[in-house]
Amino acid sequence: MSGKDLDRDLSLPVIREQYQRLLQRLEANEREFRRLGRSVLRVQEDERRRLARELHDGIGQNLTALKHRLTQLGDGLPVDPALRAQLEAAIALCNDTLDDTRELSRLLRPPILDDLGLESALQWLARSQGEASQLSITVEMESLPALDDDLQTLVFRIAQEALNNVARHAQASNVLVRLVVRSGSLQLQVVDDGRGCDPETALRSGGSGLGGMRERLRLHGGRLDLHSSPGNGARIRAVIPLDGD
Ligand SMILES: Nc1ncnc2c1ncn2[C@@H]1O[C@H](COP(=O)(O)OP(=O)(O)OP(=O)(O)O)[C@@H](O)[C@H]1O
Ligand SMILES: [Mg+2]
Repeated sequence: MSGKDLDRDLSLPVIREQYQRLLQRLEANEREFRRLGRSVLRVQEDERRRLARELHDGIGQNLTALKHRLTQLGDGLPVDPALRAQLEAAIALCNDTLDDTRELSRLLRPPILDDLGLESALQWLARSQGEASQLSITVEMESLPALDDDLQTLVFRIAQEALNNVARHAQASNVLVRLVVRSGSLQLQVVDDGRGCDPETALRSGGSGLGGMRERLRLHGGRLDLHSSPGNGARIRAVIPLDGD
């Protein structure tokens, strides 16, 4: 190839065209990566849904039957205080295991999310997490456009992990969960009045919570911000574009 050919091959329009083609290929790869990632999450949620049902209907119902049988056994028992105490302890254990099983089932995939949608599911999450961790959790929601199943699940899982973090790390009293639409994006904020943290350290801590939220959001073209400083509470904000990709 002569020097002249080389000059022509590397002329500005050619380089620009090659660059454009490369960019398009990168964008196509990114779209494919996101599509595959979302499919994996969908499969994971389906599996959770199945396990949740199995726990609730299988183990849960067997435990309920066991409890009834033990109670019936007690009705026919001679009045022996030691024996009765043992039976009552067995029934109490059954009740505790039943509660744990139902709780686990709901956390895996709350049926309310499929049956009544995101708003009811967030209200339920706030109520149950608030009771379990003695937090006052308020949910504020604007009226939203119809959201598909993936988006509802995404918002729910982010709120769930953010509230878990508040319960585990923040020593907060009050939490606000806010879901609004701004500039074509869905914005979920979880604000607490706890002890706060250094965002850089928190994001580099290697915990799977914040990292997992970021990964999930990236698959929907969204992003996560954490605003906090020690002693001043924390604000997590997830921004999700509504136009899809
Ligand atoms: N609301 C909050 N208030 C104070 N610190 C927080 C809050 N949320 C997160 N952090 C800090 O950020 C760190 C990282 O959170 P992340 O959810 O990634 O991991 P983790 O909760 O420690 O573990 P896991 O993998 O079980 O979620 C926490 O260890 C905590 O120090
Ligand atoms: Mg966490």
